Amino acid sequence: MSLPVARINEISKYEGQDVELRGWLYNKRSSGKLHFLQVRDGSGVIQAVMFKGDVDPETFTKADHLGQETSLRVRGTVRADKRSPLGFELGVKGLDVVHEAKDYPITPKEHGVNYLMEHRHLWMRSPRQTAILRVRHTVIKAIRDFFDQDGFTLVDAPVFTPAACEGTSTLFEVPYFDLGKAYLTQSGQLYVEAACMALGKVYCFGPTFRAEKSKTRRHLTEFWMVEPEVAYMTLDEDMVLAERMVSFIVQRCLEKHEQELITVLERDVSKLKNVQAPFPRITYTEAIETLQKAGHPSKWGDDFGGDEETVLANQFDRPVIVHRYPTDLKAFYFKRDPTNEKVALGMDVLAPEGYGEIIGGGQREDDLDTLEKRIVEHNLPREAFTWYLDLRKYGSVPHAGFGLGVERTVAWVCGLHHVRETIPYARMMERITP
Ligand code: 4AD
Ligand code: MG
Repeated sequence: MSLPVARINEISKYEGQDVELRGWLYNKRSSGKLHFLQVRDGSGVIQAVMFKGDVDPETFTKADHLGQETSLRVRGTVRADKRSPLGFELGVKGLDVVHEAKDYPITPKEHGVNYLMEHRHLWMRSPRQTAILRVRHTVIKAIRDFFDQDGFTLVDAPVFTPAACEGTSTLFEVPYFDLGKAYLTQSGQLYVEAACMALGKVYCFGPTFRAEKSKTRRHLTEFWMVEPEVAYMTLDEDMVLAERMVSFIVQRCLEKHEQELITVLERDVSKLKNVQAPFPRITYTEAIETLQKAGHPSKWGDDFGGDEETVLANQFDRPVIVHRYPTDLKAFYFKRDPTNEKVALGMDVLAPEGYGEIIGGGQREDDLDTLEKRIVEHNLPREAFTWYLDLRKYGSVPHAGFGLGVERTVAWVCGLHHVRETIPYARMMERITP
């Protein structure tokens, strides 16, 4: 007789029934006639209670010696149990060991972060890490659903590129056959600018690379970015799109993971419930005044680091949009404010609680002559941008977009100190394994 195979996150459907669970032993304790086996199957953890009288003697003895992460099939009856966080436990009737694990290197006790990162391939089995990976999945799914419902078309941008998008200092170079050098993309923006002229509303979504020598808790060398780009869109509409998308993502995460965020990740979800559009907007110039009032030595023209972003974000109970940064701080493609040439029509969204910039974007320069000038000013190779300049030759229109970093967003939603836990395999200056 074969039993239905249940997943732990759907165990309530099987109350009172016999099922088979397929998973691994996470932890166990015993008291005389009882073994309490914590079994995980990737969707959750359940307590499987083995009573000596319910199983054959070998099974009972064997269960006493199983190592953590031993893979097993457990059969038993699903029972409601008010004391367990899951609300259910399994009354064990039988157990098959699939593969016995000995001396698993990660025990439920504390390990240092370096050790855990070195064992990432195993660390990802732990309840905290699986919870984070599920939230990441939901963030990505929410992004795709948001754009899908809003009439956007996905247009993938290439990873190998011939030139810089975000400035030349952070490019990873790779040899590229007889053509010389290629670079790993820093952003798909230039390519979605072309695509929005074809399809109106588009986005790209993929890995991006920055050879940044930043060892901060917000920087990875490889991270995932989603970049919408819309023809005829202006900076104001760009900010509306950004706040709508961020609210949608956060509220979707609460719908799907509120319990897990509270119990596993110890997140204060009340702070996430505030994340509803509209978000406050301040200009860069106002931001500098705020910083100076708070006693920061910042002056007009300075870029913001993590500390400045935290001071600014702490003034609000939801993300804040800072717009119109000095042009000198911004990439070549930004359009300047026609009423003040010193500032660019760009914006950043800063997450609350010290999580910093999660979005950067703005309106693009759409005039051919001006853009050609900027390429020269930024010492960029004109030949590499011929195709990009074409967009300003044939039916140029105002357009805008932004990029949202997935890892910083997941770190904020989950309340994590460092982005390294938000991506399955983090790539940083000092880490490229496993
Ligand atoms: O502000 P950035 O550099 O903007 C762009 O790349 C634009 N071309 C996007 C666009 O307008 N289409 O990067 C956008 C976001 C940041 O706000 C941040 O969330 C994330 O990408 N990001 C990083 N995340 C992790 N590690 C890094 N080193 C990151 N650099 C940027
Ligand atoms: Mg930025």
